[in-house]
Amino acid sequence: MHTAHLILCFKGQIYMTEERQTGVTAMVTAFARAYHATHDTPKIFDDYLAPQWFSDAERAFLEQNMSAMLATVDPQQAAACTDPAQALAWVMQHVNGPVTLCRSRYAEDCLEAAVRAGVGQYVLLGAGLDSFAFRSPAWAAGLQIFEVDHPATQALKRQRLAGLGWPIPAGLHFIPLDFTRQSLEDGLKSGGYQESRPAFFSWLGVTYYLDTGVVLDTLEALARLASVGSQVVFDYQRPEAFDPQHAGRQAQAMQRVVARSGEPMKTGFDPQALAGQLARLGLRLEDNLGPAEIEARYFQGRSDDYHAFPHIYLARAGVA
Ligand SMILES: C[S@@+](CC[C@H](N)C(=O)[O-])C[C@H]1O[C@@H](n2cnc3c(N)ncnc32)[C@H](O)[C@@H]1O
Repeated sequence: MHTAHLILCFKGQIYMTEERQTGVTAMVTAFARAYHATHDTPKIFDDYLAPQWFSDAERAFLEQNMSAMLATVDPQQAAACTDPAQALAWVMQHVNGPVTLCRSRYAEDCLEAAVRAGVGQYVLLGAGLDSFAFRSPAWAAGLQIFEVDHPATQALKRQRLAGLGWPIPAGLHFIPLDFTRQSLEDGLKSGGYQESRPAFFSWLGVTYYLDTGVVLDTLEALARLASVGSQVVFDYQRPEAFDPQHAGRQAQAMQRVVARSGEPMKTGFDPQALAGQLARLGLRLEDNLGPAEIEARYFQGRSDDYHAFPHIYLARAGVA
């Protein structure tokens, strides 16, 4: 069984459109945060609300699917591992968890610094099942939060929120929007976003799935919409991740897993060229963390197998 099977089995329970299975990768990344919150110490990123997105039956089902995924990503390891809980831990530590956890931690660390410096708007592009608005740390009091996401994924989230009964914070605004079809400008303005005030944007786990042109157009729109003092953080992969000759074990595993979810990865960026590409859009690259820096910041000293991936980068850019 693998993620494609997960889609079929959850038809009707996981919200999906006819044209694409939007929402599945958001479920998978939320599951990685939920697993980490309940199984691992110390925490790379503590999304203590994430386990609540899933019913007991869904969690059991996802655990079963993820542990069975070991056979797809590493058949040798799968042959040596007969305990499903161990197989699950292996998949979470080697495939699903590291990127999801370190990018969320990075984004919220940068967000906190920005809010303490006076930024009052937080825009999550492709929010998925991000729970920041509901964890609401004290330093974020009064922050206006805009969750922009594909309409199908956002519908899935809102359906789950209604079921959980969590109160929707007054400062939280939902903006359903497909980056490939609608303008970010129109979406944000209609949602109450104020162009005259600095904002912090996160775009986590999304650039991989869009065409390069859509990523660049979205960043350009963001640069136009954001006042000086605004920032954006996003994660991206090196283009070598798509080259079977040069892609490492993790890159190949990530691609195999997500291709089966119906949201295949398409885009990568050259870390050396990124500053120039962003400058042409009106953005100044301020951080471009590679694997060594990510490992040192978020994974050093752990006794488990969570590590930075060799092909993943974390970027932060300011509005020039
Ligand atoms: C891997 S999930 C990441 C979710 C969340 N940011 C996280 O880190 O868990 C990818 C997200 O990108 C969104 N996405 C993908 N393609 C999109 C599009 N064309 N328009 C809007 N959102 C899109 C999906 O709906 C989903 O929420």
